[in-house]
Amino acid sequence: MCGIVGAIAQRNIVKILIEGLRRLEYRGYDSSGLAVINDKKNLIRFREIGQVHILAKEVEKHNIVSNVGIAHTRWATHGKPSKKNAHPHISEYIAVVHNGIIENYQELREQLKKQQYIFNSETDTEVIAHLIHSEFKEGYTLIEVVKLIIPKLKGAYGIVIMDRRTPDLLVAVRYGSPLIIGLGIGENFLASDQLALLHVTHHFIYLNEGDIAEITCKKVNIVDKQGINVERKPIKVDIQYNFDNKGIYNHYMQKEIHEQPLAIKNTLHGRFDQNNNVIFTELDKKAQNILSKVEHIQIIACGTSYNAGMVARYWFESLAIISCDVEIASEYRYRKPIRRKNSLLLTICQSGETADTLAALRLSKNLNYLASLAICNVLGSSLIRESDFSLMTKAGIEISVASTKAFTTQLTVLLLLVAYLIRLQNKNILFERNIVKALYNLPFHIENIFLQEKNIKSLAKDFSSINNVLFIGRGDQFPIAVEGALKLKEISYIHAEAYPAGELKHGPLALVDTNMPVIIIAPNNKLLEKLKSNIEEIHTRGGLIYIFTDKNAGFINSKNMKIIVLPNIEEFTAPIFYIVPLQLLSYYIALIKGTNIDQPRNLAKSVTVE
Ligand code: M6R
Repeated sequence: MCGIVGAIAQRNIVKILIEGLRRLEYRGYDSSGLAVINDKKNLIRFREIGQVHILAKEVEKHNIVSNVGIAHTRWATHGKPSKKNAHPHISEYIAVVHNGIIENYQELREQLKKQQYIFNSETDTEVIAHLIHSEFKEGYTLIEVVKLIIPKLKGAYGIVIMDRRTPDLLVAVRYGSPLIIGLGIGENFLASDQLALLHVTHHFIYLNEGDIAEITCKKVNIVDKQGINVERKPIKVDIQYNFDNKGIYNHYMQKEIHEQPLAIKNTLHGRFDQNNNVIFTELDKKAQNILSKVEHIQIIACGTSYNAGMVARYWFESLAIISCDVEIASEYRYRKPIRRKNSLLLTICQSGETADTLAALRLSKNLNYLASLAICNVLGSSLIRESDFSLMTKAGIEISVASTKAFTTQLTVLLLLVAYLIRLQNKNILFERNIVKALYNLPFHIENIFLQEKNIKSLAKDFSSINNVLFIGRGDQFPIAVEGALKLKEISYIHAEAYPAGELKHGPLALVDTNMPVIIIAPNNKLLEKLKSNIEEIHTRGGLIYIFTDKNAGFINSKNMKIIVLPNIEEFTAPIFYIVPLQLLSYYIALIKGTNIDQPRNLAKSVTVE
């Protein structure tokens, strides 16, 4: 959610902090701020509402020179987006940036008020600054005080603390929200996401849960949650990303939609042997042995990743004949789930840092699953590090808050996994052969959708003054309807709902009148005839029908009906294919509506708080 950057160096770090914030802006963009200690040992703070460039402009005016500082881009939880609620928060000589939630902040606030502390914000973060300040006694060091206050904080948090009196030091704590250390030569950095630091280093230490780190220009000291000094191995990360380059596109979302054929190719690359059997080099003998015994799969995920899981359920059950349940992580973690026999826990997560998914994974450790397997897009993320095994999607960095290429590459890995399990468990090899063939062809088929982009763009005009949209599909296209509706809500702020087509007459059909557009995903498959009857029911009631289909489905245009004929596609990969035109449609509708497409209101890319 929020983004944190910290830097300590022998050079001026102001621009490094600002650039770091700019790279993290997609994680939260209500307001931003930074605090530095200047050459005269003064603690200087800047905070602004809105995007990072507003803060950058303000900071630039002051020509600040500083070797140590902390910065933050905010996604408001406690206290509305405002200048006074923006981080860093200060208590005299202490400055703090924070990602996460302090659940007992009200109680702490009351206690601190009794000690005459004055609160200038509505945030939970300000209590951390005052709490640290209140614990200082003669001779205490910052790290000693931080260790004292940790047991008093309830919740999940990543924090970085700076003390004006010791400008050669930053202290960081990871408890539930990700924090990494970037290693330089004679300089070190901190961030909530490695992307924030790629302009200064490619060498990172990932802090573990409960770690406290003391960082100077030359040294990094880490103590774990037991208070024991630990060495955490640095990892070199080879990501290159040009944050200024949207190429020929106007938005990251548009670029990422168009990157899908390549992202899928990259995800498939190296995953077939010379006989075209699926291989996962990430899975060792132990993993293979476990997977060969799996009789049930429990999928856990949130948002778009959950929708990918819903598609996978159809695949696991109908193709690999393995029973499968899919659950939203925030629900699963607060139920008393019963683990089925010989069950695999499968988490799906773009960022690898989604708080609910991580919490569900941690909970599952007591439930005796055969193993936990993560499908994830970010190497080194918490999810990867805490799962028994993982399979990477190779989508590349996804910047747009609305997920597109992460979804289609998740589905690609899931379908590869289905084929892999079919072979491992000696199930229907014909299915496996056909899945492999379909996956090979998929990037090419998606390229062909882009030939229709102009038509989809012009279709978007129909939705410019619409307030509600229904999406329907059947079978493995139902989750695609759900994902299509999510995309539309997220970036155009149009209310959209998705239903399995057969469910319409159990209620939602009451919504259908001559003002209700219904988007239907209707490839030529074994459920088409059933779907056609449902379409008839909508048509009879005057609904505005938009059918995404293929040449063989045999739809004929009639009044109030628009038919978007797409190329034919193999049945196995049809769900991956059909989301692409829906992504494009949402994109062009949002473009007409003039919303902030890459950073929709109230949202953030990675949901690291509950
Ligand atoms: O990083 P994750 O895949 O766990 O993220 C889950 C959701 O927050 C995410 O998919 C969200 O729903 C997207 N913004 C949807 O486009």
